[in-house]
Amino acid sequence: MTYKSLSDVLPHLRLPSPRARGRVPTPLDEHEGISRDLGARVLIKREDLIDDLGGGHKARKLAYVAEEAVARGADVLVTGGSVPSGQCVAVAATARGLGIAAHLVYCGDNQRKPARPQGSYLLALLLGHRVTWYERTAWARIDELLAEAAAKESAEGRIPHIIPPGLHTWPGILGSIDLGLELAAQLARTPDGAFGVQVVAPCGSGTTALGLSIASHLLGLGWTVHGIRIGGSAEGVRAGITALRADTARRTGDSRVLGAEVVIHDSALGEGYDHPTDAQISLMHDLLMRHQLVFDPNYMVKTFDGLRIGLRSGAVPRTGRVVLVHTGGNLGIHGDSPQLQDWYRWQLGPSLAPDLS
Ligand SMILES: Cc1ncc(COP(=O)(O)O)c(C=O)c1O
Repeated sequence: MTYKSLSDVLPHLRLPSPRARGRVPTPLDEHEGISRDLGARVLIKREDLIDDLGGGHKARKLAYVAEEAVARGADVLVTGGSVPSGQCVAVAATARGLGIAAHLVYCGDNQRKPARPQGSYLLALLLGHRVTWYERTAWARIDELLAEAAAKESAEGRIPHIIPPGLHTWPGILGSIDLGLELAAQLARTPDGAFGVQVVAPCGSGTTALGLSIASHLLGLGWTVHGIRIGGSAEGVRAGITALRADTARRTGDSRVLGAEVVIHDSALGEGYDHPTDAQISLMHDLLMRHQLVFDPNYMVKTFDGLRIGLRSGAVPRTGRVVLVHTGGNLGIHGDSPQLQDWYRWQLGPSLAPDLS
């Protein structure tokens, strides 16, 4: 099978064609060490290597969203996030690349402006044009706060385009379908071909997992796509996936999209979004030491943990090959949550880490 592009599989769709999707194709690595650890044949799709800023797969989704925004005349992208999120960095970097501005809104129930910016937040400040902070403000208000920021930009004569956190609105999912098409072509070049693999990805909004499943459906490959939840509410994610699938089928005019499914796993949630368990932070350290792989403490460590639990319970079959999609988020290892910083302090000991505070 040769690479089929989005316009090959969705010929009726008038597509935004992004100028830069990042460094694609991203590598697909057969990983002997991880395969040995898990007792299954594991390949890792290194979507984290798509850019240098930790944006990972978000950069690919964003390319479609931003291109559409520019086509509509936008000159400022407005988005929001919590301090550890990669969304603001990815949007600010994409805006810089397109020569337009980015207005970043930070809020969150327990969020405080960090005294010493680091990780994703530091990069977002360095790349963004404008930052608005709402400390200790309910995350549920984010849509209203983004609308307020956009209104401010309009009042100053700019043309804003709001990009909701998670990139779960059209046309972001085209980036995830594109990822699936790329993965299919890479698998087709392996001795066992592209059929019948287990694909495992983090599930925030579920866009990535759904896009991968749609790609499998459009190509008739019979993948089972597993989404490992990393936070949020189970009902919210399921409802979001259902709505996104219907919207994508309507916009593409392709009823095959309606057959796409995601198997959702709640086994590795830890204590919720950005709250891994201590055992998950130890796992992150273990993967770094044993395989020199950076799996951040929110998305990728939980996804790896969910895969491990699923293989043990049989929820993810060991028989075929497993593709673990590394979606990025590597800068999360620099996170400044007290839990993570305490763990580092405890792990490194006073002589190695005299002052991490
Ligand atoms: C690194 C990383 N992986 C996965 C996700 C979740 O992706 P989705 O919302 O498509 O499920 C995100 C989204 O915030 C992310 O930043």
